[in-house]
Amino acid sequence: MIVRNPDALDFSYVPQKLRFRDVQIETIRKTMLEPLRAGISNNLVAFGDSGTGKTSTMKYLAREEKAFIIVYENALSFSSLKMLLIDALYNMGKLVGSRNMSYSDIFRGFNLVSQKKGRKIVLVIDEATNLIKFERDGLYNLLRAGEIYSTPVSTILVSMEDPSIYMTERDRKSLGVFSSILFNRYSEDELVRIIEERARIAMVPGSINDDMLRHIGHVAEPFGSARVAIELLQKSIYICEYRDGTSVSIEDVRAAQSMINPYVTESKLNELDPLDLAVLLSICHCLRDDPSTSMSCVLEDVRIVSEQFGVTIRENTAIYRSVKRLENLGIVEGRVVGRGDRQGVAKLIGINDIPVSVLEEKVEALIRRN
Ligand SMILES: Nc1ncnc2c1ncn2[C@@H]1O[C@H](COP(=O)(O)OP(=O)(O)OP(=O)(O)O)[C@@H](O)[C@H]1O
Ligand SMILES: [Mg+2]
Repeated sequence: MIVRNPDALDFSYVPQKLRFRDVQIETIRKTMLEPLRAGISNNLVAFGDSGTGKTSTMKYLAREEKAFIIVYENALSFSSLKMLLIDALYNMGKLVGSRNMSYSDIFRGFNLVSQKKGRKIVLVIDEATNLIKFERDGLYNLLRAGEIYSTPVSTILVSMEDPSIYMTERDRKSLGVFSSILFNRYSEDELVRIIEERARIAMVPGSINDDMLRHIGHVAEPFGSARVAIELLQKSIYICEYRDGTSVSIEDVRAAQSMINPYVTESKLNELDPLDLAVLLSICHCLRDDPSTSMSCVLEDVRIVSEQFGVTIRENTAIYRSVKRLENLGIVEGRVVGRGDRQGVAKLIGINDIPVSVLEEKVEALIRRN
């Protein structure tokens, strides 16, 4: 056995000290916690690519900042913002009689909790992209709870994308001014140091050498993601254990590399809205027997998919936008090719990082869940 503490290999593990996120942590302390201490509530969006430590930073703050009530909620677990807020009340120890509460009841509850415990509330909403897009009314109530309900609550919304890209000036005005803070990708050196520390806690001394750790950091660097680096470490270790090895070899790391599909992570798929999912499912259908497909197949198939799953599509431009989004997220690959003989250009779409049959299953499950 080369593992002595498997917890440190888990994604949910929050290290004792969170390195390389000092700037983000300080910004949150300065722009949110300090003013809140003085009774001024403030909202913030934390955004950045997958694996850049957004969730860990929030959990770290919740653990360290005892002068506040920091409640962590994941938006994906709830069908509406209201249900999420009711759960937050419950998690702060407030007994909730009915699920049928108005915003005013909910924030009165927040007030009571805050008064009783003598601490101000920070609500962290992780994976909040869809909520920011589709729950403007609820968000309005939450982000302006200070003014509307005199509730001392500050909110941190966590998302992979910068929400300002899909907000108009008017949206921003109505939701009140809020600052945003970027979680930048980690450098190769930072990734190596993050997994070094994990390996030191998790493994029997001498069971992985520095070269292997550096190699993993190098492989994970293009993604800048600690999630990818830790997943590679974890898989390499278990592959090594499986062959009864006493130290992780380069072949173990290579095998781990072939097992992960960093481009198509669950959290990326979870960010997609129903239309994106329908379009992605159609792309999968069109790619069953071909290495690449054209938009015409997708446009045709998505009409059938949307009817089957009750997704509304108004116009084709929405489908094109959705394909663009899937490309930007790195889930599909788009390529523009000439049709030859002044016939103009055509767009070819492909998926290379995950078997299409596997993706199709995942996407279908997500559409059904929605
Ligand atoms: N600065 C860091 N120091 C140590 N470990 C880190 C750091 N940043 C991230 N990690 C580890 O990397 C993994 C992924 O981090 P985390 O879940 O916080 O990323 P995320 O930005 O929330 O990603 P996603 O958008 O995919 O949810 C976790 O296991 C976390 O412990
Ligand atoms: Mg996260």
